[in-house]
Amino acid sequence: MKISNRVLSNSNGTHRKDPAQQDELVALDEPGERDERANRNKSVYREEPLKQVYLSPPHMSGREQEYVQDAFDSNWIAPIGPHIDRFEEEFCATVGARHALAVSSGTAALHLALQLAGVGQDDEVFVSTLTFVGSVNPVIYLGARPVFVDSERRSWNMDPDILAEALKRRANIGRLPKAVVLVHLYGQSANIDPILEVCNRYDVALIEDAAEALGTTYKQGSPGTYGLAGIYSFNGNKIITTSGGGMLVSEDEDFIRRARKYATQARDQAAHYQHSEIGYNYRMSNVLAGIGRAQLQVLEDRVNARRRIFEMYRRALCGVPGIEFMPEASWGRHNRWLTTLTIDPNGFGANREDVRVTLAARNIEARPVWKPMHLQPVFLGCERWGGNVAAHLFQRGLCLPSGSSMQDSEVTAVIETIHDLHDRRA
Ligand SMILES: Cc1ncc(COP(=O)(O)O)c(C=O)c1O
Repeated sequence: MKISNRVLSNSNGTHRKDPAQQDELVALDEPGERDERANRNKSVYREEPLKQVYLSPPHMSGREQEYVQDAFDSNWIAPIGPHIDRFEEEFCATVGARHALAVSSGTAALHLALQLAGVGQDDEVFVSTLTFVGSVNPVIYLGARPVFVDSERRSWNMDPDILAEALKRRANIGRLPKAVVLVHLYGQSANIDPILEVCNRYDVALIEDAAEALGTTYKQGSPGTYGLAGIYSFNGNKIITTSGGGMLVSEDEDFIRRARKYATQARDQAAHYQHSEIGYNYRMSNVLAGIGRAQLQVLEDRVNARRRIFEMYRRALCGVPGIEFMPEASWGRHNRWLTTLTIDPNGFGANREDVRVTLAARNIEARPVWKPMHLQPVFLGCERWGGNVAAHLFQRGLCLPSGSSMQDSEVTAVIETIHDLHDRRA
């Protein structure tokens, strides 16, 4: 039964029913519907906010302190040490990569990857437009220009057909980019094969940004291990964290050897301090590598927990008019780092911002889908290929709290807050 509720806004921008009108509405309801609504109001729609529910907080396993203690005991409080070596080895085994370099952030890893792919002043790099700015900033650090590529609907990731067309046209005029940065968004792998094929056809380096996609699969492998190099992030909000950190992987031993040198101020092999090139201070601390090792041991549990939370959201909300979840493409397992959906205001009765603000008023953190890079003020004027898929996903897309330590009662509170808003607005 459709109800046209009148709603009141309070100073927080949240909405409450007008009590006088609420009685009138209840009187109009069918008995079954009235009971259900009354129960929902009792169980969820409380005025008092919940304890803060974060979007994706760190989730420690308990073993991290043991490794941190070990770093202290051995006095390897430095950007070298046994935990780093082991973390790199164990990470390789987890994703199926040959060589890895632990660094201070995912952004640092991408900076090194692009530099080693030969990107330099005035080069161009094609990048997925629907991403976090960390996928693009390193292009700028190197004096190169980003060119943005739109998403496909089935995975929300870079559209292989648009990339193929763009590279074909660029090849015709002899202006191919130096590299493609392919993002695996929110933990879903892009369709790597056709993208790799077209990059190989034109001899363009493929760098995979798998910052959000650790624990994800693409066919038999892991995104991040198909291109010339791949990067991962251990930022505090990621599926596993070292508080801050990143990993660069490659099949090419020499690539990682050179990256290691650049990450260590490009120090030449000499007893004295000698430098023939400019480098960076990008190495990971041995203390944080200890945290990373303990986190890596529970990666599979973390993926399962996030997939379970997604499933709870999906079951409860998939029938709500106007709500559509980010699909899971057939080529792999989505780690569901963040449960992400779109809200069509015509069907749902409220737009994405209304939902976000309503959740925020109950201390529930939700976040709009990344604002595409081609719409960012800092990148205005950059070339772009494709239509408005990414822009549309941004306009309607919302990420729900998805931390692997979330309690069922918290997931239920999110679900019921959304149901409640729909009931009041539809
Ligand atoms: C898609 C993407 N790329 C790059 C990064 C950068 O990683 P970091 O924050 O570790 O520098 C992030 C996340 O933070 C990300 O989500």
